[in-house]
Parts: sequence; structure tokens; C-alpha cells
Amino acid sequence: MSLLEVKDLSIDFETPDGIVKAVNKLNFTVEEGKTLGIVGESGSGKSQSVFSIMGLLANNGIASGSVKYKGQEILNLDEKELNHIRSEEIAMIFQDPMTSLNPYMKVEKQLMEVLIKHKGLSKKDAFTQSLQMLDAVKIPEARKRMSMYPHEFSGGMRQRLMIAMSLLCNPKLLIADEPTTALDVTVQAQILALLNDLKKDFNTGIILITHDLGVVAGLCDDVMVMYAGSTMEYGSVEDIFYEPSHPYTVSLLKSIPKLNDNLEKLATIPGNPPNIMNMPRGCAFEQRCYAAKPECKLERPSLIGFSNDKRQRACFNEGWKYE
Ligand SMILES: Nc1ncnc2c1ncn2[C@@H]1O[C@H](COP(=O)(O)OP(=O)(O)OP(=O)(O)O)[C@@H](O)[C@H]1O
Ligand SMILES: [Mg+2]
Repeated sequence: MSLLEVKDLSIDFETPDGIVKAVNKLNFTVEEGKTLGIVGESGSGKSQSVFSIMGLLANNGIASGSVKYKGQEILNLDEKELNHIRSEEIAMIFQDPMTSLNPYMKVEKQLMEVLIKHKGLSKKDAFTQSLQMLDAVKIPEARKRMSMYPHEFSGGMRQRLMIAMSLLCNPKLLIADEPTTALDVTVQAQILALLNDLKKDFNTGIILITHDLGVVAGLCDDVMVMYAGSTMEYGSVEDIFYEPSHPYTVSLLKSIPKLNDNLEKLATIPGNPPNIMNMPRGCAFEQRCYAAKPECKLERPSLIGFSNDKRQRACFNEGWKYE
């Protein structure tokens, strides 16, 4: 049994202008101790997908399909059941740490409260474990910082603090939505190394949303490439990087800068993703695709399995090689 098994997950938003189909029929799994990377351009539906798993969609959002955590259906659970799962089983790291930190509460109080409330620890034990967790995420002078407020921390340190907070109850699944975008590259590398340790030391399953394919290559086991709310391609990191099977993935790979690149010649993908309020009839990527054929305009390719039991792709093209 997979730690997380997602089947046909779709998300619609009701808006004054009509229904927005933000996410369409995603299928993926996350195993214990493994990391799934979700990549895709802005607006492709990455955040809403994981928000729906956590029960955090906006009020006008409707999720359908199935999300099973350790075999139990968790999509659209009521608030009470979700609260239990959110604190003790699945944790989330947001792009902006202040989303889950209280600016008016001292760090020690925020951390200890989680342990007292969810684990029933005494104040003394809660303090000790909180301090240990700050050490574990490598916050220097942790004891001194326990009595500070979050705003007295630097950006990178706040991110670590949020990671510490999300790990207090030893979640089995950690969802990280672009956890390092706002940080400089050195701190970014440290945070990613920290996530990697987690997966090794605690066998935590991780979903990592990122714009950065370099990060995916370094940290992830599997990848889902999303475009305009749908999966374009899904498979192991090796499959996706060495044998990409979708022109969108190929275009993304070609746009990664390499050290010896002439930056002026760096391949960018021309055009923009379609407006999801006004989706074309055919493939969503057709207008920007170097391999588009007339049929791609007429019909949307469905997501089909191929090659091995994990891989999926949505493309009419077959039999071409990535060079
Ligand atoms: N409450 C809402 N009502 C209507 N549309 C929404 C709502 N929330 C999100 N959307 C739309 O859903 C789509 C997917 O958004 P999502 O936040 O998942 O994108 P993303 O892939 O995470 O992008 P980014 O990389 O910029 O974070 C977007 O087109 C967005 O405008
Ligand atoms: Mg997002």
C-alpha cells in the first residue's frame, strides 16, 4: 500500500464568470521515504492540488476524485478529522513561513503548544523536545532563540522554524510548496539538504513543489510535470530526465541553464500557457509545441500509461527521440 494514493483528483472553482477547471484528473502515488516532485509553470495547478489534499481549498473550490492516505479516504473529510491528520500525519511547509507562524507569539510557546495539544506532553518535556527540534533543523543558538519572536529571525531561519514546527509530531508525509523560492541559493541548498536528511532519517514521504528542475534532479525520486491543470508526464526521475516523452518536458529540460551556456541563446518556451477559463479544444500545449500535428488541435490527448507501471503521458506523438 502506498503512503498516499491519488486517483482522478480534479478541482473546480465556482466564480462569477463560470466554472474554472483548475486541476484535471491527476493520478499519482507517494511512497514512504520517497520524494515526488511536482513541476510546472505558474498557474498550472500545483498548489491547489496539494491544498485539496490538506483540506485547504478556498470556499469556492470543489475537489473530486480520491485521495487515500494509508488506505483511508481523506478527500473532503470534515474539519475535525482533518485537524487530526494535518497535525499528526501530514504536514505542510508553505512558501511564506508567516502563513503558519504567529507573529505575536514567542517561538517556544508556538512550538510547545503543538506538542502539548497533540501529544499531551508536559510543559517541561514539550520545551525539551522543541529545543531538540530547533537543533535538528540547525538553528544556531537554539536555546536563546526559543524566547524570541519569529520576526527576529532571518528569512532562512524562519523557513527552518516552520520546518521544525511541521516536524514536531513526526508526520509521515511532508508537503513542501516551493519552500525555498524566497531564499538565497546557499540557504536554499541547506534547506533542501535538510529535507533530504528527513527522508533518510525518518522515512518521511515528501511532495516537493518547485519551479526548479535542478532541485528535482537532486532530491526527487519521481516527477509529475503539470501544464494548465493537467499532467503532461509522470514517471521516475531517471525516466523523465533521460527519456522524456512529452515535448513540454523536453522544452523545460532545454531551458535549464548550464554552466557553459551562452545565456542569450538559452532556449525559452515561446508563448504562454492558455487561459484556463478558455481552454482550447485540443492539447493545452499545442500552440507552443515544436512537435504539434494537425490532430493535436482537434482533440485533447488523454493521459495513458506506457513503458512501465508508473509512467504516464498525455501526447499524440510517439516514436520520436529526445536529443
Ligand atoms: N479561489 C479561487 N478561485 C478561482 N480560481 C482559483 C482560485 N484559487 C486558485 N485559482 C486558479 O487555479 C489555478 C491554479 O492555481 P495554483 O495556485 O494551483 O497554481 P500554481 O501551479 O501553484 O502556480 P504558482 O507556481 O504561481 O504558485 C490558477 O489559474 C488560479 O488562478
Ligand atoms: Mg503555487
